Amino acid sequence: MVKMKSPLRMFIEVSMKGLIKGLRKQRIRWRNAFLLGSIMTTILVLLHTPTFLIFTDEEETESSSSSSLPIYLNGSLHLNIQIVSEAKVERFHALTTTPLIELNSSDGLSRGKLVEQETKIDLQRKRRKRKKRKKTKDELILPDPPPLPRHVLSSSEKRALSLSPKEALAFAKLEIQQAPEVVNDTELFAPVFRNLSVFKRSYELMELILKVYIYPDGEKPIFHQPHLNGIYASEGWFMKLMESNTQFVTKNPEKAHLFYMPYSVKQLQNAIFVPGSHNIKPLSIFLRDYVNMLSFKYPFWNRTRGSDHFLVACHDWGPYTVNEHPELRRNAIKALCNADLSDGIFVPGKDVSLPETSIRNAGKPLRNIGNGNRVSQRPILAFFAGKLHGRVRPQLLKHWRNKDEDMKIYGPLPHNVARKMTYVQHMKSSKYCLCPMGYEVNSPRIVEAIYYECVPVIIADNFVLPFSELLDWSAFSVVVPEKEIPRLKEILLEIPMRRYLKMQMNVKMVQRHFLWSTKPRRYDVFHMILHSIWFNLLNQNQTSSDHAPDSIYNTHQ
Ligand SMILES: *[C@@H]1O[C@H](CO)[C@@H](O)[C@H](O)[C@H]1NC(C)=O
Ligand SMILES: *[C@@H]1O[C@H](CO)[C@@H](O)[C@H](O)[C@H]1NC(C)=O
Ligand SMILES: *[C@@H]1O[C@H](CO)[C@@H](O)[C@H](O)[C@H]1NC(C)=O
Ligand SMILES: *[C@@H]1O[C@H](CO)[C@@H](O)[C@H](O)[C@H]1NC(C)=O
Ligand SMILES: *[C@@H]1O[C@H](CO)[C@@H](O)[C@H](O)[C@H]1NC(C)=O
Ligand SMILES: *[C@@H]1O[C@H](CO)[C@@H](O)[C@H](O)[C@H]1NC(C)=O
Repeated sequence: MVKMKSPLRMFIEVSMKGLIKGLRKQRIRWRNAFLLGSIMTTILVLLHTPTFLIFTDEEETESSSSSSLPIYLNGSLHLNIQIVSEAKVERFHALTTTPLIELNSSDGLSRGKLVEQETKIDLQRKRRKRKKRKKTKDELILPDPPPLPRHVLSSSEKRALSLSPKEALAFAKLEIQQAPEVVNDTELFAPVFRNLSVFKRSYELMELILKVYIYPDGEKPIFHQPHLNGIYASEGWFMKLMESNTQFVTKNPEKAHLFYMPYSVKQLQNAIFVPGSHNIKPLSIFLRDYVNMLSFKYPFWNRTRGSDHFLVACHDWGPYTVNEHPELRRNAIKALCNADLSDGIFVPGKDVSLPETSIRNAGKPLRNIGNGNRVSQRPILAFFAGKLHGRVRPQLLKHWRNKDEDMKIYGPLPHNVARKMTYVQHMKSSKYCLCPMGYEVNSPRIVEAIYYECVPVIIADNFVLPFSELLDWSAFSVVVPEKEIPRLKEILLEIPMRRYLKMQMNVKMVQRHFLWSTKPRRYDVFHMILHSIWFNLLNQNQTSSDHAPDSIYNTHQ
């Protein structure tokens, strides 16, 4: 923003001072003096106001093109100023119509100054607001989280802190089974959870107890080098935030409840896969050798046969890279975007469905999120655009492309359409966003839909939805079996408006659990992933030695 201290302004300031002096010393005619004074004050106010005319900012230029009006300040000083936008003209009018100086006041000039100052403050406030608004438009601003509730530790919780890792897990498991009932929570929205009491208690205990040991072994770029952009960004973001975490990470593996193997399947592919070979076995062999190395070098793998070890992989091939090591495949906890029941690798209740999140700007993961249109401004019933990967999308297009005004179903979004309405604008203007599987069951669209406050419609049989141990997806999404594609519109129209409005509200409320941010916050997607791994660890039989109550999944079907 240009700082105006132009000769013009200096001239005005000097002449104002001169005028005031003149008023004191000589008897200038009041009427003329006030008139001159008011004109100068107006000009001063305008110059003081960085939002005015001379100044431009991005937000305004976008809307400026058609509504430019020249404005002339007719008076003893003539400014040739170009007006930028209608909004500014309005602001200008508001300014000039405020009585800057009450001509009948004997204290005219100082009043004028006061008004000027008030107007200035007012405008600064407006400016700040505008800036804020502009920022929200660009990037979701999360309010600072309330301070951690000072949870007073019960005597048993204090005792838990001195337990061995194994005993502490057994303690946590029991505590969650006896979770005190929580109906409302100021931070958590009960309707999106299967059982808020269970989630809340489990999360508290995670914060109290959980320690993670990160194996330092492994070379960059496959290990320890997070990749933060693109559709596989979840594995990179988790790695980055886990490795920089201080709350949960321990350097002492004897104290750890979980062991993290910090590699990226995306980087593994880049490093090892031979394009065109159609052979991903070398990747699997690489991981087998890595795990064998760990199990020779440290006692921890053998202790539980890997069942307290975990990996986080968003690349489609994640599940297939564990095949060469039977214990890695069977026992380790795998957080996978490709959470496909039919592969026989992903085990619900042990493995974790990792949300696939498409990150376009690693510096600003929250860019463009939120600010979806109100329901009344979502004229499109259902929207899909994307490549025709896999078995489902061709079906979808066969039945719905160019078939129905309410169903905007495309292949890749055509340029002539995208020019009028971008992909994101489509999502923000649709009631339902279709998320058919691609080559694999998962799709970044599910989380995208949540980001743009569009109710996701998931068409991917055998897909285990992210965090479905804890979240009640039926509260904020629709699952349509693949064979029902021909009835898609009917199914969506059968959903009563009241239920739709509830789902859409819930989509907004669940959004925070899918957000990456450079500084992790309670209940954000990083913590949700870690929590699901923790929660599933507790459900493993191996870790609770003495008594093994059936399951903590009272509500899990
Ligand atoms: C102000 O000045 C402009 C340009 O000099 C002129 O066109 C316009 O009529 C003037 N308006 C008044 C109210 O004098
Ligand atoms: C001064 O002017 C204002 C409007 O400009 C008017 O409301 C007010 O009554 C006037 N006061 C006196 C004392 O004339
Ligand atoms: C949630 O889980 C708790 C603890 O297991 C249980 O007592 C409660 O009945 C469950 N609530 C609902 C609504 O299912
Ligand atoms: C929960 O919140 C709702 C609405 O905010 C309120 O009406 C209700 O009384 C609350 N219930 C409890 C147990 O606090
Ligand atoms: C772990 O078990 C394997 C065989 O399953 C063995 O070769 C290895 O030496 C063991 N590691 C340690 C640290 O004892
Ligand atoms: C734990 O044991 C029970 C019964 O023995 C079994 O049904 C369940 O699948 C086991 N859980 C895991 C995670 O292995």
